[in-house]
Amino acid sequence: MSSEVLGISTSPRVKGNSDLLLREALAGAESAGAQVEYVRLAGLNIGACVECNTCYETGTCRIEDDYQQILEKLLNIDRLIFATPVFFMSVCAQAKVLIDRGQCLWAHKYVLKQQLFEIECDRRAMVIAVGGSKSKKQFDSVQLTMKSYFDSLQMSYVANLFVSKIDARGAIEKHPSAMKEAFRLGEQLVSDETEVPDKPVNVELF
Ligand SMILES: Cc1cc2nc3c(=O)[nH]c(=O)nc-3n(C[C@H](O)[C@H](O)[C@H](O)COP(=O)(O)O)c2cc1C
Repeated sequence: MSSEVLGISTSPRVKGNSDLLLREALAGAESAGAQVEYVRLAGLNIGACVECNTCYETGTCRIEDDYQQILEKLLNIDRLIFATPVFFMSVCAQAKVLIDRGQCLWAHKYVLKQQLFEIECDRRAMVIAVGGSKSKKQFDSVQLTMKSYFDSLQMSYVANLFVSKIDARGAIEKHPSAMKEAFRLGEQLVSDETEVPDKPVNVELF
């Protein structure tokens, strides 16, 4: 077991529901022997993509802010856990700003036709998302966005933990199984025995 796991918490709310699940998933990964790192986006200075298209020529983003340190981490890990609240049926704004800055990764792959890594790497990612409503469609857009982002990061999208009907801050701690599932999925993410599935394994809780 030598996985390095990065957990990105994108909720603007301190100790929000998705954040608490992320911490639990990281604890699961750590218990299985992985090295884990937690990053909270809300405290960082990451500006939106300005569509200058510089990256179409260079493969890198010319905006100098905290994105560069996150990108470096993203390129040096083999497991990612991305946590977001559902806002208007999609990822929250903080998450989307980070994802859009990934256009330099997309340009690297699809415009410049270059690989991010010289050798093939076993990089895997999972998503944690929490929504207040009971709508079954609230995670559709999250999944599509994350699929595209993980593709640019050259990561296999292996699992989702989606929890509905959780609204008040910290309410997730009273959910009968969500915290346990987060821990288990964190463990599983770093297990050497888990094969990459054809499509992400969905754990949907209400
Ligand atoms: C701006 C905003 C938009 C929201 N939009 C949705 C939504 O479209 N669907 C939903 O189920 N919940 C929505 N919610 C509720 C949050 O998803 C819910 O409170 C969740 O538990 C927040 O997670 P967090 O504590 O990790 O931030 C919204 C909340 C806010 C503040």
